[in-house]
Formats: sequence, C-alpha cells, structure tokens
Amino acid sequence: MRLIIYNGKGGVGKTSVSAATALRLAKKGHRTIVMSVDAAHSLGDSLGVELGPEIINVAPNLDAFELDIIHELRTKWTAIKDYLSAFMVSQGIDGISAEEMAVFPGMEMVAALLYVLTFRNNDSYDVVVMDTAPTGETLRLMSFPDVSNWYLDRAFSIFNRLMGIARYTIGKIVDFPLPTKEVMKTIGELKDQMSEVKSILDDPQTTTVRLVLNPERMAIMETRRSYAYMSLYNKNVECLIINKVIPEDADGEFLREKLAEQRGYMQAIHESFDPLKIFTAYMLKTEMRGRDKLEYLADMVFGDSDPIEVYSTESPMHFRTLDDGTDQLVIKMPFVEQDQIELYKGQDNTIILQVGSQRRTVSLPMTLANAELLGAEFGDDCLCVNFRRP
Ligand SMILES: Nc1ncnc2c1ncn2[C@@H]1O[C@H](COP(=O)(O)OP(=O)(O)OP(=O)(O)O)[C@@H](O)[C@H]1O
Ligand SMILES: [Mg+2]
Repeated sequence: MRLIIYNGKGGVGKTSVSAATALRLAKKGHRTIVMSVDAAHSLGDSLGVELGPEIINVAPNLDAFELDIIHELRTKWTAIKDYLSAFMVSQGIDGISAEEMAVFPGMEMVAALLYVLTFRNNDSYDVVVMDTAPTGETLRLMSFPDVSNWYLDRAFSIFNRLMGIARYTIGKIVDFPLPTKEVMKTIGELKDQMSEVKSILDDPQTTTVRLVLNPERMAIMETRRSYAYMSLYNKNVECLIINKVIPEDADGEFLREKLAEQRGYMQAIHESFDPLKIFTAYMLKTEMRGRDKLEYLADMVFGDSDPIEVYSTESPMHFRTLDDGTDQLVIKMPFVEQDQIELYKGQDNTIILQVGSQRRTVSLPMTLANAELLGAEFGDDCLCVNFRRP
C-alpha cells in the first residue's frame, strides 16, 4: 500500500491536488481512498460530493471521507474516555466530554494514522491519499508515533503503579478508580499500533510527502521550512507541486508585472530544491471545483504518468562508518543554518536534535550504545553527528 501525504501552506491547493491525484489514481485502476484530516474540511466541496466521517464510494475505485475526531471519540476509544472521565470526577474535576478530549493535540492525527494502519492490514486499498491541514499540524503528525509512544509509556507505567498500590491496599478504599483491564488493554494495543504506524511512515517506499506551493515568497519560505522538518523526521519528500502558475501568455498590464515577479520565484524554487522532482499546474481563470476541473488539474500535474509512482526514495537519514573508524549519523537538512541546530545526548541511547521549535529524538543503533558523542559538523546540507565506539 502507498500512502501519499499532501502538505503545504494555507490555500496553495493541497485539497485540489489531493482530489485530482485520487481521481487519476482511481482512473489508472488503483483501489484508492482520499481522506481529509483538516478540521476545516473542503474535500467534499472540491470533489462536488457530500462527504462525512463515514467512508463512501465516490467514483469507480475511489472512496473518500472527512475525518471527524469527535465522531471517532464517540464511536471508538470509549474505554479510555470513560476511564479518564471517572478518574477526573474522583479528583473533584468535572468529567471529560468527547468535545473536550478532541482538543488534545494530535488526537486527530492518531485517529487518521489508525485508519491508515487498518487499511494496510486489511489490504483495503492500493493507495491512500491524505489531504492535510496547513503545515504546522502535519509536522506534528509526522512526529506523532514517537510522541504518542512517549505518552503511552508514561500512562502505562502510571497505571501499572496504580494497580500495584491497589494490590497493597486491598480491603482499604482508594480514592480513585482503577484502570480496568479494558483500559490497560486499549493502551497496550494503541502502543503496538503506533509502532506499526511508525514503520509505515518511516518506509520511503510506502510513505511519501508531496509539498504543494505557489510561486510566491511566503509559500517558498514555508516549503523550505517544511522540507527541513520532514528531513528531521526522516520523511521522504519526493516531489514539489507548484500550483497556480500564471501562464506565460497571460496578457494585461497587471498580469505582466505578476509574471515578471513569478519568473524570479520560479527560479528561486529551482535553486532551492533541485534535483527534487518538480511538477507545475497553471492557475485557472475560475475556481478549481468539480471533477472536470480536477481531471484537468491532474493532466497538468501528472500528464500521462501514474501518480502512484515514488519519484524519489532517498532516505534523509543514514549511518556510516568513516575510514578512521568514526561512526557518523548523516541527516539531510536543507535550509537549516548550523546555528539553528542544537544537539544533546538523551536517555536510553538517543540523541536529541532541536531545530527551531521542532525537537526530535533519534534512537541510535545498539552498536553505538556506549559510543562517545564527539560532536557534529554541518556541510552539503547535511548534519553529520560523529561518534567513537570504545
Ligand atoms: N490551479 C488553480 N487555479 C485556480 N484556482 C485554484 C487552483 N488550485 C486551487 N485553486 C483554488 O484555490 C483555493 C484553495 O485551494 P485548495 O482548497 O485546494 O487549497 P488548500 O491548500 O487545500 O487550502 P487550505 O489550506 O485552506 O486547506 C480554492 O478556491 C481552489 O478552487
Ligand atoms: Mg485544504
């Protein structure tokens, strides 16, 4: 199964490109689903169909839905929700509703990724196309299996301790409800599922990120940042899609000035991202809505090619041993300045990389468990972290 995630700044055309890609994939005969993970859904509007939280068929080979986290919390995960609610009531706090729980960061992403896992395990589709919210959220999505495992580990050990205390106080009254077997089971399962999700996200043959942008200054800057963060999270950015390009033969004084500006930005995009595969699509005179226009968008972007293709699989992170015996972790980090990167040694054989507000814990291979962290150097858009084994 392929997972194609579209991301980019607000309004650049993520939803349109996701819908167009999905239509083209379905037409090529791939069993396809397109899902919207943006709370401000517009996928249905783009496709010209009524979409909701249930999966429906919208064209031959094509299913679609708009993920609704409150619906997910109401229909699934009830054990955890009920337990948290009972625990909070026992502590004198009002219970928690699905609506309140939905605001926990990352909830939507966990739900989305669990869908992806189910699709993969049931072999339901050949391709999953994911339309996401503007950049910030998706960055969280990409790091989510790591983050959620951290939370789940803590929850597991706290609950275990509660169970331990409860055993010692048998016959006495504890002033909080104990997690039921079902709660413990749900958390255990969630942990296993998240590590499976992580393996899906980390496999560059399966999961790829496609960044959508417009030939505009802010969009280019944001795309550079996203690219750097995706590299930080070891995610395969395989191509860019420049949408809303003004055709060179556009006439009128206003458009001529816009065109001159655009040429500069197109050049800047190539200078920044070559040799990354770049697709382009022209700006239409009217809105990009409905199947005919989406088909036309797919023609502009993909031509006759099949969008299931993985345009590049180069993993942004790898380990190597240099001739002098130094072990090196090499992480591709374009568009990052050396002084933006902070590096620490973490617990449990990890190193922690901080780039701006984003932090990533990288687990080291066992062979480097006792290695000394010698420091890091930066060059050729790569961060090289050096280790020496005892
Ligand atoms: N090539 C194009 N030509 C003309 N209009 C376009 C083109 N691509 C997208 N649009 C229009 O631009 C608007 C934004 O597009 P879309 O909703 O696909 O972007 P988005 O990146 O998903 O936005 P958001 O960040 O709000 O989710 C829509 O009105 C859409 O019809
Ligand atoms: Mg959108």
